[in-house]
Amino acid sequence: MAESRTATLTIDGKDYQLPVLSPTEGPDCIDIRKLYGQADVFTYDPGFTSTAACDSTITFIDGDAGVLLHRGYPIEQLASRSHYLEVCYLLLNGELPSAADLEKFEMTVTRHTMIHEQMHNFFRGFRRDAHPMATMVGVVGAMSAFYHDSLDINDPHQREVAAFRLIAKMPTIAAMAYKYSIGQPFVYPRNDLDYAANFLHMCFAVPAEPYDVNPVLARAMDRIFTLHADHEQNASTSTVRLASSSGANPFACIAAGIACLWGPAHGGANQATLEMLRQIGTPDRIPDFIEKVKDKSSGVRLMGFGHRVYKNFDPRAKVMKQTADEVLDLLGVQHNPLLQVAQELERIALQDDYFVSRKLYPNVDFYSGIILEAMGFPTAMFTPIFALARTVGWISQWKEQLADPQLKIGRPRQLYLGQSMRDYIEIENR
Ligand code: ACO
Repeated sequence: MAESRTATLTIDGKDYQLPVLSPTEGPDCIDIRKLYGQADVFTYDPGFTSTAACDSTITFIDGDAGVLLHRGYPIEQLASRSHYLEVCYLLLNGELPSAADLEKFEMTVTRHTMIHEQMHNFFRGFRRDAHPMATMVGVVGAMSAFYHDSLDINDPHQREVAAFRLIAKMPTIAAMAYKYSIGQPFVYPRNDLDYAANFLHMCFAVPAEPYDVNPVLARAMDRIFTLHADHEQNASTSTVRLASSSGANPFACIAAGIACLWGPAHGGANQATLEMLRQIGTPDRIPDFIEKVKDKSSGVRLMGFGHRVYKNFDPRAKVMKQTADEVLDLLGVQHNPLLQVAQELERIALQDDYFVSRKLYPNVDFYSGIILEAMGFPTAMFTPIFALARTVGWISQWKEQLADPQLKIGRPRQLYLGQSMRDYIEIENR
């Protein structure tokens, strides 16, 4: 990281020189690490809108240009020419694999797909109507009680094993959470299938009859995984990093990430988008809905629109839309009423000054729900699918953080606006 210039901050007539760090891509960063020690001030940035909390070499986003790069490679190229496990290798290791490296990597992931048999009992402790995200938070956290030989974060081999376990077992856990919620038997992984096809098999096969995975659907599933694999320092990734900064074990950290992802402003948006499309129902009801969204007092947002970083377009949304067309075409549901509502909503919103002036465009979740629903997933499974795909991003960032010799526990400061010190008053005197 180059440091060639300084910024001058003047407080009460006194100058403080702050180093300016230049990244490979993106805006320069003013290094304020020593500011508190020198000037006795904090910086104030709720929501981290202008704060870089770490340095990273994994993913770069240019929100104004609609660019998303993993280790330098554009997401559009990875989504069309690569596949999920190769992208996992790239995120984890920094370079595309050779054919031999990829084969070995895929083999290792495949060999870790089963979960400890005793964990089946753990699933059975949940209510049948539990949201699969609730089950996933619990089960992934509980992995730390089952895999004691991959908890030592100071041992690089154990870190590696934990990474493989999480990437390999997450589809099994997500599929089991689903099967449990619908009262069907768990389906064991099949190591002759690829990662995405195996997930569809575990979700949709039943022991009573054969199930053939449709290759077009497996490809679409793989693409959805690829498009969600990583997204630099978003809320759930930052949660994983913050949890990890205290030295927490990998399964606890990823469970924290899953919990954060669940919220409707983040990964829960795909479920919320589909529920919104259903609630609108037909294209003629869109104008009323748009009016409600524009009325701030209604508290209604256009789900699947807007992004903290993308202020032009979300490059993932473009690929997702194409995938939606392919899947709906295959399944012969081009006239799906939800798709018609989504298309019309997008058309109207993109012309409306409210959305245009605020740079609100469809994000990755606007179309992913429609694809997943067409594939047969209930809305409650949308966010678990996002979580399983994002696991590799969380782990890559976790590994990068632990390898950083400057690692410190994350400890934000605050602008305290509460009472100054005052004396306790006895209850009879209040
Ligand atoms: N619908 C209506 N208005 C919106 C929306 C929306 N979806 N998103 C932002 N706005 C408005 C805000 O009301 C605000 O208006 P104002 O300037 O008049 O006050 C302005 O646009 C800026 O919004 P912020 O909330 O400051 O933007 P922020 O960057 O904090 O929020 C977020 C980003 C949370 C994604 C937001 O756009 C949103 O809630 N979108 C809907 C949920 C969603 O789709 N989330 C998925 C994100 S992608 C992902 O996690 C995979």
